[in-house]
Amino acid sequence: MVDDLKKGLEGVLVAESELSSIDGDEGRLIYRGYTIEDLARGASYEEVLYLLWHGHLPAEDELESFTAALNEEREVSDDVLATMERLADADERPMAALRTAVSMFSASEPESDAEPDDLEASLRKGRRITAKIPTALAAFERYRLGEEPIDPDPDLGLAANFLYMLTGERPDDVAAETFDQALILHADHGLNASTFTSMVIGSTMADIYSAVTGGVSALSGPLHGGANQDVMEVLMEIDESNKDPLEWVEEATDEGRRIPGFGHRVYNVKDPRAKILQERSKELAAEGDSKWYDITTTIEEYLTEEKGLVAKGIAPNVDFYSGSVYYQLGIPIDMYTPIFAMSRAGGWIAHVLEYQEDNRLIRPRARYTGPESQEFVPLEER
Ligand code: CMC
Repeated sequence: MVDDLKKGLEGVLVAESELSSIDGDEGRLIYRGYTIEDLARGASYEEVLYLLWHGHLPAEDELESFTAALNEEREVSDDVLATMERLADADERPMAALRTAVSMFSASEPESDAEPDDLEASLRKGRRITAKIPTALAAFERYRLGEEPIDPDPDLGLAANFLYMLTGERPDDVAAETFDQALILHADHGLNASTFTSMVIGSTMADIYSAVTGGVSALSGPLHGGANQDVMEVLMEIDESNKDPLEWVEEATDEGRRIPGFGHRVYNVKDPRAKILQERSKELAAEGDSKWYDITTTIEEYLTEEKGLVAKGIAPNVDFYSGSVYYQLGIPIDMYTPIFAMSRAGGWIAHVLEYQEDNRLIRPRARYTGPESQEFVPLEER
């Protein structure tokens, strides 16, 4: 038995996976052998889901039936809608609303009696969850605005339909493609904290609803999915401070503040997803307001050149440019992390089912550092 303590499980191999691989020194990410650049430029989010869940990129007829099956599952129950309304009225945070929604989806699951090891049934359940998340999230946002939810449009893909249900406007091609790309970029990323959480839950042979609910919970933290919202909040803080962005970032780093969107447990160089989102952010800025893009690049240049952070392996991660992209698409800031969850649900489901195929309960140990022996004192004598 190896007794080395690996805090944060850093570098510990716990499973084999064919789903995604990260080269943190080269800044390379692949899903089943396809580079993230090729998938982002050439595929749709639905194709990527199919790739992750079924092992190959779909042929046209496969994609057509897969998309139709997903689209059929988009509606959520009246109970879920009523809960989204209540939570919106109570000013609940969107990630908490999403956590509740995913957990509630199981109440209308037609195959709830399927055996835990029926992986085909679990995949269909996963498809239902993935199709319903955008609908529940958009409904929550509509209720917050005091508006009624908008029914899904079966003619729109998952990305475009979400923007439509969120805003009531059918997005133009640039917005739909940009958002679809963002979903592709976030779909999977090895055994990150939320994926591992889902796998731990899945390894007990609990159902996929529990595993995805756990994934949402883990993603909500600022060290993981919450960073994209933090990035945009920092950009707005800089804008509102009326300071030069350079002056702001100098002061912030002198105070020892961590800059959200910088640093990654696995990448020692700039995250390839950040490069793609930077291009999109730049394109959107060229059409509209370049302010956010400009502040972001100023911070990156300062941290890279003056602070030498990139040379130390602390480089922009996926969240650094996603904030300004989503902002320019008109998405409310506190919906950024739920959007991450909307996409990553595909990866969670893929990993849970892959792991369950040859399941072993995940059960690590802690090194005990408490007292070895204490004399028990009854309550009334303490
Ligand atoms: N700004 C300034 N310094 C930083 C930053 C940052 N964002 N991130 C790490 N450092 C420094 C840190 O202070 C430490 O310096 P020192 O060795 O002098 O104490 C060194 O880099 C190593 O930091 P660490 O926390 O030990 O590294 P980690 O691998 O445990 O943490 C991280 C990775 C993502 C938690 C961390 O980089 C961070 O807090 N980043 C900001 C939050 C963020 O952007 N999170 C999103 C991660 S990517 C999306 C995802 O996977 O969900």
